[in-house]
Amino acid sequence: MMVSGSNFLQDFDITWGDGRGKIVNNGELLTLSLDKYSGSGFQSKNEYLFGKIDMQIKLVPGNSAGTVTAYYLSSEGENHDEIDFEFLGNLSGEPYTVHTNVYTQGKGEREQQFHLWFDPTADFHSFSVLWNPQTIVFSVDNTPIREFKNLEKIGVQFPKNQPMKLYSSIWNADQWATRGGLIKTDWTQAPFTASYRHFNAEPNNKPWMSQRLDPISEEKLKWVQKNYMIYNYCTDIHRFPQGFPPECSA
Ligand SMILES: *[C@@H]1O[C@H](CO)[C@@H](O)[C@H](O)[C@H]1NC(C)=O
Repeated sequence: MMVSGSNFLQDFDITWGDGRGKIVNNGELLTLSLDKYSGSGFQSKNEYLFGKIDMQIKLVPGNSAGTVTAYYLSSEGENHDEIDFEFLGNLSGEPYTVHTNVYTQGKGEREQQFHLWFDPTADFHSFSVLWNPQTIVFSVDNTPIREFKNLEKIGVQFPKNQPMKLYSSIWNADQWATRGGLIKTDWTQAPFTASYRHFNAEPNNKPWMSQRLDPISEEKLKWVQKNYMIYNYCTDIHRFPQGFPPECSA
């Protein structure tokens, strides 16, 4: 049995940012920073075909308006699959937006956005993806916030053939991120730093490969969707004047 397999030196490469991404404490902690000149990013050395992947993240504190911290699984190439978390910063005391999306065969347009029920900058919180042949579940501190089920039987593509790596990066997106781009990044607050610890990826031969949401998790998911979801592509009639994608009515 592996006791906390978390070692960033072993599992990840800092891929860009010219020193703004750092692995410290003998591989226990990773930090990504953004300043006026550049952001930074890392990627996993391993790739995953299905995964149960957990990471604790502490988002950029204070006035983080204009910054985006992306945390996602992605395959490569034009018809890639992708499972996305993106954290859009905000003014001090105003809520972060957690943006989620699922791409299959290069096609996304499945955004759901949430606010959180806690301040994600005050401490570390776990952000998880369960991806198995039946479902994709996005969770925050073990509370599911979104499920994308395998609905191939009604013609919705599902990621299942292309292995993905895990990526994260921080960059400036003040053109659009905070209140639709109204609030600009305040560079006097730089560097903006997000921190990561306790990465875990479960091996594939485990019960999670056939896991589905249990009734208690279904209830939690409903609670989040009712109280914290701020955008759902499945209700955005302007986006889909010809009718919603099939998964929206499943
Ligand atoms: C920032 O705060 C405002 C006001 O509370 C909120 O409407 C918005 O969704 C928050 N997030 C972003 C990314 O703008």
